[in-house]
Amino acid sequence: MTAIRPGGADDLDAVAAIQQASPGAAGWMVADYLEQEFLVALQGNRIVGFLVTRTLVAGEREILNLAVAPDFRRKGVARALLDRALEAFCGEVFLEVRESNGVAKKFYKSLGFKELSKRKGYYDNPPETAIVMKFHSC
Ligand SMILES: CC(C)(COP(=O)(O)OP(=O)(O)OC[C@H]1O[C@@H](n2cnc3c(N)ncnc32)[C@H](O)[C@@H]1OP(=O)(O)O)[C@@H](O)C(=O)NCCC(=O)NCCS
Repeated sequence: MTAIRPGGADDLDAVAAIQQASPGAAGWMVADYLEQEFLVALQGNRIVGFLVTRTLVAGEREILNLAVAPDFRRKGVARALLDRALEAFCGEVFLEVRESNGVAKKFYKSLGFKELSKRKGYYDNPPETAIVMKFHSC
């Protein structure tokens, strides 16, 4: 059973380890997540995933980062995080994903996200095009 709760300072080491093990995830400073809408997923006492979102303007939300520990993938953890983040949200949800990140694109499409546009040169290290995806929540 996956439990979801807001993330805090004590969770950052575990979140950094998941991020480090997830090349498809954004590599930001995890301390900055405390300034955003930050959720963690737990299996027992272990943090197995995290999600960071922010509100752009009223009715528009952006997914900034999402990752699940490699040994807990494909068990519904990311879906549970997204469900919790969006359960009380009505509006448009946006995200960018690396064009080569086929697993993440499949994940988002499984939830109803659609490809909206491409942003060439959006990423560096390594350079890559971003796919912008959008979902209408509620
Ligand atoms: C993308 C990611 C967050 C998905 O997390 P997850 O907890 O494994 O996803 P879920 O178990 O909730 O999957 C929900 C659905 O997404 C789709 N999906 C997820 N992983 C998939 C895969 N490897 N292949 C095909 N479809 C997949 C399936 O439809 C799945 O439903 P199902 O298992 O009932 O078939 C995870 O693979 C990850 O951490 N990747 C590295 C970080 C990353 O790329 N983040 C995205 C940043 S934009």
